[in-house]
Amino acid sequence: MAAKVDKLNIFLSNLAVINVKIHNLHWNVVGPNFFVVHKMTEKLYQMFQLQYDQVAEMMKMQNQMPLVTMAEYLDNTTIEEIEGRDYTDLEVLELLETDCQNIMALAKDIRDEADKKDNFLLANLLEEYLAIYAKKSWMLRAMLEGDPTMDDDDN
Ligand SMILES: [Fe+2]
Repeated sequence: MAAKVDKLNIFLSNLAVINVKIHNLHWNVVGPNFFVVHKMTEKLYQMFQLQYDQVAEMMKMQNQMPLVTMAEYLDNTTIEEIEGRDYTDLEVLELLETDCQNIMALAKDIRDEADKKDNFLLANLLEEYLAIYAKKSWMLRAMLEGDPTMDDDDN
């Protein structure tokens, strides 16, 4: 990871990379819960795609330059890329839960720093994300426990 890149650009890189990664899982999930996981991953990548744009625009508002190339994102992300192959529904949920925890930890870190600097615009944005991530994480964990009644419409 490049040392000089600020945490918000690492966060932006994570949002860019996870968007691609979740498409991989959305396309390659297999198993009896295919349809639920396929639909759930679609909502997830749409959410991260929106946040990717919002974070970059927040940076521009605050006179910061967002990273813009895939090469830069790959250089700076803390999300691990995965190969293209079949993934069981269980594997998908485990991968997503791990990434969700990773993204949450950095979001909390950035939120705390923004709060200390009275950067309420950034702190509020990250706080909003943290609430969403907490809910997604709970749903992923509930699905991992094999609750067949879990449905992804409540998001
Ligand atoms: Fe699709």
